[in-house]
Amino acid sequence: MGFYRDHVVPRIVNAACGMKSGNPLRQRVCAGLEGEVIEIGFGSGLNVPFYPATVERVAAIEPADLGWKLAAKRVAASPVPIERAGLDGQKLPFGDDSFDAAVSTWTLCTIPDAAAALSEVRRVLRPGGTLHFVEHGLAPDAGVARWQHRLEPMQKRIAGGCHLTRGIADLITNAGFTITEVDVFYEDGAPKFLAADTLGVATA
Ligand SMILES: C[S@@+](CC[C@H](N)C(=O)[O-])C[C@H]1O[C@@H](n2cnc3c(N)ncnc32)[C@H](O)[C@@H]1O
Repeated sequence: MGFYRDHVVPRIVNAACGMKSGNPLRQRVCAGLEGEVIEIGFGSGLNVPFYPATVERVAAIEPADLGWKLAAKRVAASPVPIERAGLDGQKLPFGDDSFDAAVSTWTLCTIPDAAAALSEVRRVLRPGGTLHFVEHGLAPDAGVARWQHRLEPMQKRIAGGCHLTRGIADLITNAGFTITEVDVFYEDGAPKFLAADTLGVATA
């Protein structure tokens, strides 16, 4: 699985997550970001073009070397300084209260212990700092959710550990955040079992 995980999955992620239909969602997630920002699951840097000018610096957390390589052109073209600052969202190499804001887009599905990652993100955000997110997870409709439970074992195998049935709003709230804005919807152009998105902002 090492070759598939290291050399194939990051390309699948770059292609699947790089579809233009995701861009308006990335734009919504990045709106209002400011100051020192941490992005977990940076992938191939597909949010970079949407960072507003109010962002001073981004610490990118990404385990996949190939993802980081695929991000190189976007990182080089970015007026916002971006540094690969860590490999694992579950254990962040920063002190408490280090950041003004955090970004997570379609990442909590894949991090093995998403609760640990959210707790780390909350720890490194200053009090009142914000987590901006869009994540796919457990669908609000029982019929779709049943299919998600059936398909999840296969999805985890082919998509680098991606879960389909995580309850995103509950995960965020249970980590101690207060969700201040939220929108739950099916993303256009994708099968519903993959496209049950939760987009919003939560305060640490
Ligand atoms: C579905 S991709 C999304 C990538 C990117 N956020 C985007 O919107 O295009 C999930 C990302 O989470 C990363 N990831 C997996 N385990 C992780 C961990 N423990 N900490 C941080 N990121 C992780 C993967 O390498 C991958 O880049």
